[in-house]
Amino acid sequence: MDKPTFYITTPIYYPSGNMHIGHTYTTVAADTMARFKRMTGYDAYFLTGTDEHGQKIERKAQEKGMETKAFVDEIVSATKELWALMNIRYDDFIRTTEDRHVRAVQKIFRKLYDQGDIYKSAYEGQYCAECESFWTPTQLKDGCCPDCGRPTEMAKEESYFFRMSKYQDWLIDYIERHPDFIQPPSRANEMLNNFLRPGLQDLCVSRTSFKWGVPVDFDDKHVVYVWVDALSNYITALGYTTDEDGLFRKYWPADVQLVGKEIVRFHTIYWPIMLHALGLPLPKQVFGHGWLLFGNDKMSKSKGNVVYPGPIVERYGCDALRYYLMREMPFGADGNYTNEALLLRINADLANDLGNLVSRTVAMIEKYCGGALPGPGEPTGFEEALVQRFEALPGLVEKSMNELQFSVALAEIWKLVGDANRYIDLTQPWILGRSEEDRSKLGTVLYHLAECVRAIAVLVEPTMPGTPGRIYAQLGLTDKNLMTWASIQKFGGLVPGTRVKKGAALFPRLDVAKELAALAGEEEPGKTAGPEKQEKPEKQEKKEKAPKDGVPEGCIAFDDFAKVQLVTAKVVACEKVEKSDKLLKETLELKNGERRTVVSGIAAYYTPEEMVGKTVVLVANLAPRKMRGILSEGMLLCAEGEDGTLKLVTVEDCAEGGWPIS
Ligand code: ME8
Ligand code: MG
Repeated sequence: MDKPTFYITTPIYYPSGNMHIGHTYTTVAADTMARFKRMTGYDAYFLTGTDEHGQKIERKAQEKGMETKAFVDEIVSATKELWALMNIRYDDFIRTTEDRHVRAVQKIFRKLYDQGDIYKSAYEGQYCAECESFWTPTQLKDGCCPDCGRPTEMAKEESYFFRMSKYQDWLIDYIERHPDFIQPPSRANEMLNNFLRPGLQDLCVSRTSFKWGVPVDFDDKHVVYVWVDALSNYITALGYTTDEDGLFRKYWPADVQLVGKEIVRFHTIYWPIMLHALGLPLPKQVFGHGWLLFGNDKMSKSKGNVVYPGPIVERYGCDALRYYLMREMPFGADGNYTNEALLLRINADLANDLGNLVSRTVAMIEKYCGGALPGPGEPTGFEEALVQRFEALPGLVEKSMNELQFSVALAEIWKLVGDANRYIDLTQPWILGRSEEDRSKLGTVLYHLAECVRAIAVLVEPTMPGTPGRIYAQLGLTDKNLMTWASIQKFGGLVPGTRVKKGAALFPRLDVAKELAALAGEEEPGKTAGPEKQEKPEKQEKKEKAPKDGVPEGCIAFDDFAKVQLVTAKVVACEKVEKSDKLLKETLELKNGERRTVVSGIAAYYTPEEMVGKTVVLVANLAPRKMRGILSEGMLLCAEGEDGTLKLVTVEDCAEGGWPIS
């Protein structure tokens, strides 16, 4: 029987400089997903590549005094080396300068022209060379490009145009009828409200002012607009328009196209319209993920706040970085990159939780059983819950992965890691090991631990492809059938008698201060920090006040709690904060019609529509502060899930706002 197919793509990256961990983020996400699908029985195809044409690249090469092709060749080979370093297993890497792509783009352009979707006219307008985008006067922000903020320039040329306007109503309808097409849903609303409903203009799809592009084959003064060229890669790489289009017939439409949020517009407006005009089905999903920020700003070369993966991988291995990228922030939301958070994840999740579980398990089998895995014997009473967690896990992981919620999937896996560690503490195998009559229970404990470790190794493969092999080696596992997704659906695959073998620590514990210094390019901590480095605020020594009478340490007195004014509040209006993916601005009504404005970082979890009508809990006497120019007068209480998911604390059946909570 043929396996079901799964086609996933990353954007093709501009080879204008070395790829940083922002690009790495998208690529790792796609690779993790592709690996997960392969593991769960899919015939997965993963495409990535480089977007090499356009004025921006041409100018970059000129700045370097290089031939454009030589310039991009160099970056492309560095990119491929980086992806190898990151253990990225793509099925194809397409370069838009390759013949196979150029010829196919020419055919696509000609077909659209022949059928009347493309026509010739002249264009005059403001153009951003950096973003390869024309902007209408109303779209400009302070006279500059609304995306990158750079000055635009007036451009006038004879051009070909694509009749986008003709497809606008069709696309609105399509998006409305396919709620899964654009994810997360907030991005779909943004496209509908900001671009589609106000009306689409015909798109200028050729240029005559420079040559570094795909020539229009029937009018070679013109080169094809770089976005039409670039978007086509997802089908030209599969052989679309050629006689050898087996891959295209097999894999198109794509199952998931991953893109950063700034290019969702191209992928959910121009791209679907192009496909539809070509008579092709649309990708099943375009997922717009958030940005990796650095110092709370989008990482980008021009801002000089870029982090490169090379040095991190060299010190901690690619699995540690992959784990951090997939675990730290919910996919879809922005997140700030810090070395501190990376090191914390490595120490807490990898060295302590996972690493210790594996080393303790193997060490105890060596110590108490001469290195041979015992069979399960008498129960200790703690097995049932553990086995239940084990057997529920694949389903939970699969569900989260199918929603591209990598951080949730990993959090689920780490619940088993945590349970297994706790199982050691609960059963105390070192005590069971002392007496002959408890040997049978000891066998039970060690078998359960080893079996959990096996399942965890299988489950972490998509994110950390280099780790399972090292765990299997310690478990003495050689049977490939025990390393599969199918083999972890039921507890009990491991064969008693298997000989374990202790190995090096999976993730050695790091000295955080030392590593921070090393990452900042310093030999030792304590030496004078370079002027470019941020001084970290000294850890405030907590001033221990004399404990209040009768209040035990770690507690607060009732009158301290009473200082916090909590009240209910009705959300009467709510909107997104402009240019922020995280923030919502709520108008709250308290008692007697008193109104408050509060800004909350919950836009990733609630739409403004969902907010209106809720009765929430407000910290009413929090000092007001300005966020994005808006004065926020208080804070809403939320519960925070392990993966950072926020759930508002709400009150049911409140007729009005302003009820004090005590
Ligand atoms: O846009 N955080 O290429 P590009 C997260 N060639 N992701 C980031 C990031 C960051 N700080 N910086 C970049 C292009 N990315 C076009 C695409 S597709 C037909 C053409 C990721 O080199 C993000 O996924 O600017 C973004 O979509 C991609 O890199 C863009 O890379
Ligand atoms: Mg970009």
